[in-house]
Amino acid sequence: MALEVITKATKPYDGQKPGTSGLRKAVKVFMQENYTENFVQSILNTLGDKLKNSVLVVGGDGRYYCKTAVDLIIKICAANEVSKLYVGQNGILSTPAVSAIIRKYQTTGGIILTASHNPGGPDHDFGIKFNTSNGGPAPDEVTNKIYECSKTISEYKIVPGLKCDIDTIGTYTSKVPSGTFTVEVIDSVEDYVTLMKEIFDFSALKSLIQGSDGTPGTKILINSLNGVTGPYVTRIFVKELGASSENVVNVVPLEDFGGRHPDPNLTYAADLVEAMKTGDYDLGAAFDGDGDRNMILGCKSFFVNPSDSLAVLADNLECIPYFKRTGVKGFARSMPTGASVDRVAAKKNMRIFEVPTGWKYFGNLMDAGQLSLCGEESFGTGSDHIREKDGIWAVLAWLSVMSAQKMTVEQLLMRHWTTYGRNFFTRYDYENCDAASCNKMMAELEALITAPGYVGRVLSNEVKQYTVRLGDNFSYVDPIDKSKAEKQGLRILFEDGSRIIFRLSGTGSSGATVRVYIESYESDPSTYSQDAQQVLKPLIQIALCESKLQQFTGRSAPTVIT
Ligand code: G1P
Ligand code: ZN
Repeated sequence: MALEVITKATKPYDGQKPGTSGLRKAVKVFMQENYTENFVQSILNTLGDKLKNSVLVVGGDGRYYCKTAVDLIIKICAANEVSKLYVGQNGILSTPAVSAIIRKYQTTGGIILTASHNPGGPDHDFGIKFNTSNGGPAPDEVTNKIYECSKTISEYKIVPGLKCDIDTIGTYTSKVPSGTFTVEVIDSVEDYVTLMKEIFDFSALKSLIQGSDGTPGTKILINSLNGVTGPYVTRIFVKELGASSENVVNVVPLEDFGGRHPDPNLTYAADLVEAMKTGDYDLGAAFDGDGDRNMILGCKSFFVNPSDSLAVLADNLECIPYFKRTGVKGFARSMPTGASVDRVAAKKNMRIFEVPTGWKYFGNLMDAGQLSLCGEESFGTGSDHIREKDGIWAVLAWLSVMSAQKMTVEQLLMRHWTTYGRNFFTRYDYENCDAASCNKMMAELEALITAPGYVGRVLSNEVKQYTVRLGDNFSYVDPIDKSKAEKQGLRILFEDGSRIIFRLSGTGSSGATVRVYIESYESDPSTYSQDAQQVLKPLIQIALCESKLQQFTGRSAPTVIT
């Protein structure tokens, strides 16, 4: 007998508007009666004609509330005539793995349960993100529809009696009034590992790590910050590439990430930074909760700025078998990302796209065959092998370049700067500020920098002077579908190529986070080894002064400096 579908009455919740990357709120918000159900039903409603007999991928980063959400999604999908779900075992799938699985099995899309790099646990954040059939985050058009739907939702459908053991791999079928509903619980890592083996030369990487012909192995230290990448890291770096189990740490996914902030940067991955300082390892890496971000460090904690990471990879793509096969079609970065990759593109005569913040803006370009490699300053690097940024991919890419060029991380960077000059870059984050004052600060700053007479103005501190070339609020027209994204960040661009950018974060779950991005280009080799904070000091002072940031936020120092 078919399981019963129940239609439940519900009322809309305010604020179910997906941000830069999905809907992120405190767990307690998601736990309110029907809150999660409303949002999931809104996602499904947005599929329209594609909903009936659709196939979706479901999984998340293992944070608190993931399993409850997976259970609800299974029951709601069964009631809405979805025909099949691929669910990661234990509800675990990294964000890059979901993208890979959507593409491999050509599903209608996927639902990812993560608040990415935000802390997890009962008192922290949860998130739900919808990806479309190309494997990428839903574009604005789709997320806007989901939001509209959430504002008027009056009922959702559910099969309360459906039971499925997501901890055990296998295929589970249930009879529902619309026919058969299938849940295939899959190994969380298998499909992803297969894809990595198609992209990289695993035997070369194994020789690099284990050493060969008398050359000692390259020692790695990979820190999963107790996020979702743990099982992927153990399988790839230990089982496949022969690293020792001591080379991988924090590889058990925890519901609260061990109480830490699962964000791979110099502040929140301080244990990696400390361990790398010993000089015992040649490459260190950390990932965020859902595995799409990466931080790369060289020996003695030599920091690779993500904007430089993108540029070095762009310059060396021929070291990776995948790109030998596909060719390199173009590069892209998000607007605030440092422009070092632009210089590589110019030298290689390659197209370079500058898109708004958020991975969703890369997808159309990749689908149209115009983009192979892209990145964001926020520790995001990836390629058109999937439609998400990919932390583990980035480490394998770096190891491939080290192996082919026979150089250390630091040597690769020094060679890069010697060839192209150095784009010094830093980002200041002021987290959890008062939203109203931040909005006011942004409005006043926009008025200032777009006023007549601002262009041409000379801004200076005691040491340096910069002449304004442009002041605006960045807007973008997608070259493929012509969709427009406006108000994507305040830019002060200077005649010498230096830049100051201001944005408010779209991923926070409370208050406002101000991000200030500062960049300056230097071609004097004597500067290359200098500390970025020192080199950028004059511009930082100018940025704080122009925005009156201290006055508006009451903060005398940023929460995080990258
Ligand atoms: C942040 C980053 C952005 C990234 C996003 C999702 O968004 O700045 O580059 O795509 O997280 O990982 P924000 O909080 O700035 O809106
Ligand atoms: Zn993430």
